Amino acid sequence: MQTHVIDLLKKRRSIYNLGKNVSLSDDDISTLVKEAVKESPTSFNSQSSRVVVLFGDAHNKLWDITENQLRGQVPDEEAFKGTQEKLNTFRAGYGTVLFFEDQAVVEGLQEQFALYAENFPIWSEQSSGIASMNVWAAFTDNNIGASLQHYNPLIDADVQKEWDLPTSWKLRGQMPFGSIETLPAEKSYMDDQERFRVFK
Ligand SMILES: Cc1cc2nc3c(=O)[nH]c(=O)nc-3n(C[C@H](O)[C@H](O)[C@H](O)COP(=O)(O)O)c2cc1C
Repeated sequence: MQTHVIDLLKKRRSIYNLGKNVSLSDDDISTLVKEAVKESPTSFNSQSSRVVVLFGDAHNKLWDITENQLRGQVPDEEAFKGTQEKLNTFRAGYGTVLFFEDQAVVEGLQEQFALYAENFPIWSEQSSGIASMNVWAAFTDNNIGASLQHYNPLIDADVQKEWDLPTSWKLRGQMPFGSIETLPAEKSYMDDQERFRVFK
């Protein structure tokens, strides 16, 4: 039995203590993200996922946008300090991948295949999950740490404006990544018996 995929999945964790000490070039990281998303399955091979990779000032800008938007939600300065500290851990990373789903594709499929109309938005969400997981795994394979964040829809309009993105691109997740500065605590698992049933 081959276990290298399982070994990789076991290695993948949410890494919150990120740094900038990444050995891959920006081009290699971009290629890694591109390939991982391209090889991710989508319903009807619709390829509805869209991705933006942010480095350097663009990466910082994303977390400035998030901080500004959250400041409006948490007016108490003292309470906001915790939020700022958390955002600084993402800023400390090397870059951020933004995951979108193109609603024009979803709506097109709904028109074309009316029988499955209700399913296409669900399948689009699932495709986004698969694409982000594959990028996460590809990062893990290259010793790059990452986590998955969800500041959408709070930051959607600012992100669309800042990078002049099509309005049909719906932001689904943000993945800050970078060097792994601290490994997370060991993960606990629920009892297999409660999750899995095998019949022969
Ligand atoms: C669909 C999904 C949404 C998640 N959203 C967030 C999030 O918004 N913020 C966050 O810090 N982690 C988020 N996570 C990470 C989970 O909390 C994390 O994967 C889980 O606790 C298991 O830890 P591990 O990733 O280290 O294995 C999300 C994970 C998934 C699969």
